[in-house]
Amino acid sequence: MSAASAFSPSIAPSSSKFLKPSSPKTLALRLGFLSSSSKTLKPLLSRTSSSSAATASEAGRGASSAARMVSMPATKPSTLLDFETSVFKKEKVTLAGQDEYIVRGGRDLFHLLPDAFKGIKQIGVIGWGSQGPAQAQNLRDSLADAGSDIVVKIGLRKGSRSFAEARAAGFSEENGTLGDIWETVSSSDLVLLLISDAAQADNYEKVFSHMKPNSILGLSHGFLLGHLQSMGLDFPKNISVIAVCPKGMGPSVRRLYVQGKEINGAGINASFAVHQLEKDIDGRATDVALGWSVALGSPFTFATTLEQEYKSDIFGERGEFDICSTFLFPMTVAMLFDYLFLDIISTCSATTISDCQSDVLGILLGAVHGIVESLFRRYTENGMDEDLAYKNTVESITGIISRTISTKGMLSVYESFSEEGKKEFQAAYSASYYPCMDILYECYEDVACGSEIRSVVLAGRRFFEKDGLPAFPMGKIDQTRMWKVGERVRATRPEGDLGPLHPFTAGVYVALMMAQIEVLRKKGHSYSEIINESVIESVDSLNPFMHARGVSFMVDNCSTTARLGSRKWAPRFDYILTQQALVSVDKNAPINQDLLSNFFSDPVHGAIQVCAELRPTVDISVPQDADFVRPELRQSSN
Ligand SMILES: NC(=O)c1ccc[n+]([C@@H]2O[C@H](COP(=O)([O-])OP(=O)(O)OC[C@H]3O[C@@H](n4cnc5c(N)ncnc54)[C@H](OP(=O)(O)O)[C@@H]3O)[C@@H](O)[C@H]2O)c1
Repeated sequence: MSAASAFSPSIAPSSSKFLKPSSPKTLALRLGFLSSSSKTLKPLLSRTSSSSAATASEAGRGASSAARMVSMPATKPSTLLDFETSVFKKEKVTLAGQDEYIVRGGRDLFHLLPDAFKGIKQIGVIGWGSQGPAQAQNLRDSLADAGSDIVVKIGLRKGSRSFAEARAAGFSEENGTLGDIWETVSSSDLVLLLISDAAQADNYEKVFSHMKPNSILGLSHGFLLGHLQSMGLDFPKNISVIAVCPKGMGPSVRRLYVQGKEINGAGINASFAVHQLEKDIDGRATDVALGWSVALGSPFTFATTLEQEYKSDIFGERGEFDICSTFLFPMTVAMLFDYLFLDIISTCSATTISDCQSDVLGILLGAVHGIVESLFRRYTENGMDEDLAYKNTVESITGIISRTISTKGMLSVYESFSEEGKKEFQAAYSASYYPCMDILYECYEDVACGSEIRSVVLAGRRFFEKDGLPAFPMGKIDQTRMWKVGERVRATRPEGDLGPLHPFTAGVYVALMMAQIEVLRKKGHSYSEIINESVIESVDSLNPFMHARGVSFMVDNCSTTARLGSRKWAPRFDYILTQQALVSVDKNAPINQDLLSNFFSDPVHGAIQVCAELRPTVDISVPQDADFVRPELRQSSN
């Protein structure tokens, strides 16, 4: 039986081909993306307590109860994931009082790679976008270091412009390390599918049908899982599916790996997942995933996606309609919240949702873009010189604020200010926290209910002419006056300058981070995930790119999914900050002392400290003439 015909529809076909009427409980499970039962990944704690559920329920019912929401003790993650590895050393870490398991990376572990990749002769890296070049080169270098003869081969679509790029990086047709996409898929034992998420959604059947039986599919995102689940499909039975999701854009994954040659352990953290372990033909998927992550140079890898059990009974009743537009539309906000949030938390692993990380990434990118647009406009309208306004917004966040958070945490930013500065920080923090949370919450739920996935797939199809309508590829985002000012500021910026530490800007930015932390925490995510996705990824991977050459250089070095997400959500942050936060500051609205005291006492600060100690301090700065970025961004003006 071919892999493609081995699809296991998790929802029985009905008149709409895939969907059947769904009960709320069923829908909640379907809103999660993964389903698996595992022998080696053990859910130790599978349900949130009813008290935290009640808290969550209240939290969703409007802005007034939102204030109570942050006063509540942190929700425990819904699932604590344990795993077994026969190759690497598993360690327990305690983050904000919660135990998690991780595997530390480092070059000293490369000699274990042949063991982790036992049985694999060829790793096919499909795609050469942001992750492809980084992952392929890191894998190749790490395997060479380990003296392994496993071949890393790039597979690209016919006529791809990326052939030349891959050749320039040392891959070639002559030595069998570069070839056609389909030939590479069918000849590889481990297939890393690193084409854009929208292309994965459009080509998955062909990919599956070309894979060797018993081979392993590697993803760096849960998007394809979400797409399949939205159609009631699952992966073929005769392959294993694993994920390693680096918490940073491809160029950072490569850049910090190269730094790791000097500083053992330098790199970008990653999460890993093993999907449907019962399909892991010979039980080696966990070690392959960990080997893949260690070979990428991840300082630490934490377990992420696993749904405890595939509850087919819950899948028994489903909706024969569009779950978001038809079913959810008549619900009240509170019902929707209970429905999405509580059921997801109680029936799915935390990471079923979080694996839609590029949408989190889109938020990280979009939010910081929206913040600086709105603050630059405010500062200049209030008479600040344009160059200074750029420094006090973009340069401040991407320079000194990011560096301080990366090395000393968020509280240190606050503690750096004078009494006057602290007051300004507090006003900005208090006014911005809930407006930021409003958008973060909306985005999270758009991801959870599948609309964001659908939106990305449709956007990808609009990149090309069709239906008699023109093509709409992504447009430029750094051509406005503000970003031209940025070019001027950078042209005269002294080497290594990190910009001013501006208290108002810092207050808005830290409020955004804390609001995101709170949303992910309330949604039951683990601290490893929360910290990597809300804090470390921004300050170690993304912001240094904006510091080097502006917003497009940061956003457009990321995945297509993230680039779309950023373009969609940035204006929303700009809008809500301008319409609500800044208006509130201008009205001298009282500072929400509860919010501030929660910020000072939040256990996340200690947890960030633990994560910081798990990785070496690295130079996160990006040179203006960086040559490890997407080709089209190498020559553009800065
Ligand atoms: N970028 C990040 O920061 C990041 C971080 C973590 C995880 N991820 C995940 O990693 C995966 C890869 O993302 P990415 O950012 O590296 O890639 P991307 O920039 O989104 O996609 C670029 C690659 O997709 C290929 N592609 C596009 N349409 C195709 C089609 N119809 N058929 C075949 N190939 C096609 C392109 O081919 P050509 O070379 O021929 O143009 C190019 O190689 C995604 O799942 C993403 O979510 C990304």
